[in-house]
Amino acid sequence: MNRIKSITILGFLFLAVSCHQEKLVKSISSPNSINTVEFNLSSSGTPYYLVKHNNNTIIDTSSLGFEFEDQPAMKNGLKILGTSKNTLNETWEMPWGEQLNVNNHYTEMVVQLEETKVPRRQVNVYFRAYDDGIAFRYEFPEQKNLSEALISEENTQFNLIGDHTVWWIPGDWDIYEHLYSTTKFTKIKAKAKANHENLASTYIPENAVNTPVTMKTEDGLYLSFHEASLVDYSGMTLKIDPENTSMTSNLVGSENQDYKVKRTLPFHTPWRTIQIADRAGDLIESKLIVNLNEPNKLADISWFKPTKYTGIWWEMHLGKSTWDYGMTQDMGTWTNDGNAHGRHGATTENAKAFIDFSAKNNIGGVLVEGWNTGWEHWIGFEDREGVFDFVTSYPDYDLEEVVRYGKEKGVELIMHHETSAATETYEKQQDTAYALMQSLGIHSVKTGYVGKILPKGEYHHGQYMVNHYNNTVIKAAKYQVAINAHEPIKATGLRRTYPNTISREGLRGQEFNAWASDGGNPPEHLPIVAFTRMLAGPIDFTPGIFNIKFNEYKKNNQVNTTIAQQLALYVVIYSPVQMAADLIEHYEGNPAFQFIKDVGVDWQETKVLNGEIGDFVTIARKERNSENWFVGGITDENSREVTINFDFLDDNRTYIASMYRDADDSHYETNPIAIEIEQMEIKKGMSKKIKMNEGGGFAISLMEKNKGVGIK
Ligand code: NOJ
Ligand code: CA
Repeated sequence: MNRIKSITILGFLFLAVSCHQEKLVKSISSPNSINTVEFNLSSSGTPYYLVKHNNNTIIDTSSLGFEFEDQPAMKNGLKILGTSKNTLNETWEMPWGEQLNVNNHYTEMVVQLEETKVPRRQVNVYFRAYDDGIAFRYEFPEQKNLSEALISEENTQFNLIGDHTVWWIPGDWDIYEHLYSTTKFTKIKAKAKANHENLASTYIPENAVNTPVTMKTEDGLYLSFHEASLVDYSGMTLKIDPENTSMTSNLVGSENQDYKVKRTLPFHTPWRTIQIADRAGDLIESKLIVNLNEPNKLADISWFKPTKYTGIWWEMHLGKSTWDYGMTQDMGTWTNDGNAHGRHGATTENAKAFIDFSAKNNIGGVLVEGWNTGWEHWIGFEDREGVFDFVTSYPDYDLEEVVRYGKEKGVELIMHHETSAATETYEKQQDTAYALMQSLGIHSVKTGYVGKILPKGEYHHGQYMVNHYNNTVIKAAKYQVAINAHEPIKATGLRRTYPNTISREGLRGQEFNAWASDGGNPPEHLPIVAFTRMLAGPIDFTPGIFNIKFNEYKKNNQVNTTIAQQLALYVVIYSPVQMAADLIEHYEGNPAFQFIKDVGVDWQETKVLNGEIGDFVTIARKERNSENWFVGGITDENSREVTINFDFLDDNRTYIASMYRDADDSHYETNPIAIEIEQMEIKKGMSKKIKMNEGGGFAISLMEKNKGVGIK
């Protein structure tokens, strides 16, 4: 009798629990139902999720959890306290960007978890399903038994369902400036990329990759893994488990303590994101990463205007001039100690020449690097704190006069702050440096972090630096200053929240073509970058090198593209600040320069017309505040023909198209500067076959006829 009674009670209890569980939402689908995320707990109380696309599992059962420095891990023994579901469908405006309006439409599920045993710690997981991917993040809510989290590792798993083709760079804690490798997932060997001689700082502790990392499945589905809203946390690399075709988060650490992230509760982690696309180009059109960030917190940023710029920059990379002044300073007096070489690039005269050239050619900005004291003690020095001075010019550079001259010509100076990764020196000077800029009406600065981070033991992508980069943007905004960071933390869409985050490097840029010992960026580099690094956000790649071989400066280096591809990059690689990077003398008299004069920098709409990762891509963008469209196409080392359908053009308009394409015999190695320029009338619905040669490309400007524009 007793036994029967207890079975009945147990059965009743089970029924009660399962009824309760059934009411809980444990899966959500995206607005058009194409992507689904399912959540559950294993029998031992381990949380896991899986992702389906078109009803096919694309991320298999993947577990979630944390390890802490001073407490037991949170991996199992959890129960669901409750779940809830929300949806949002909003449209927001980008103050500048690839498009004007962005639709943010998702379904969200919040799962509240608690440990079944003391200390009964709690964690909530927020999942979002979008039509272009899924995302989730953890929240540590305020709770009795946990006030501070010292996270030694986050254990977020991404269990792949096959040995996908992957475009990856190693999970370097100090730099993203690696070439991409294309391999099967099981063949990823990140540590083989250690110690590249051109990297001033590099550290690859695990067989891990950096994000965004993009993959293609055997079935032709495209996936890209990244993170969004990286705030007060450390950057996430993904550790490769080839046996199980699985990846697990591996946070960037520090040598100064055993934990990787320190946070006071309540807090939430960055979003872990998976962009999902049936067409490679849809990855580029996806706005998942910015959508996962908070809305604009800087009410008005009209003081920043997207712009093209020239500058005193490439000449230093070529070795024509130097950043340093070449003399030593003693008590305010510069003495020629015998080292003066007279090749200092940032002189008042040189800056004025760039201003004149920019003013003549519809270019709004001039960057001047090497204008301030400290460059004599830049690369290779351990003791870099206190060296760079961000308000004091070298004696041959008159900052106020250059600014005055620029204003007279309608050209704004772009400031340059190379910190040499000496963060305390920069933090001390930020207020005065940005105040100086504001007093001069300078609204953007290119920052740089070359070398090992000071304080010693920190890495470029750890929590300390994430906070430094983010605080820099917030502080700069107070002085109406926008930041274009080099050697940055990866972009995670924070430009939505702080739109003075205008651009950044964070990849192997053009500069490597000037001096890399491995021959520079191969032609496949940018057709990979467009589908990997560019998914994170704007890139200051600095295109537009016309003197492709520059034998007069460097015999063993060259840019590995044709000149037509250099033009195409103004459309393909997105940034609201776009450099015309070559020396003035290499542009003078070249008819191809007309495209750089004409091309827009701020877009109403963006369409990816075609593309395959690592092979080729064509992008069309419509300028804001005009009816002009621009198209850019690039290819890798293989020549190919693409057909461009002009369906994207507006109805009932006739455009004068100026087409800049490879000549019949163009080739990035043997004849990179040959280019054909032709003009024709184009209307919506027409199509055109265009051949791109090896390492080549094409650029088209489409301007409405009759508005002073006709075939010349
Ligand atoms: C590295 C940057 O990427 C490059 O553009 C700059 O010229 C140097 N640092 C000097 O700051
Ligand atoms: Ca760099």
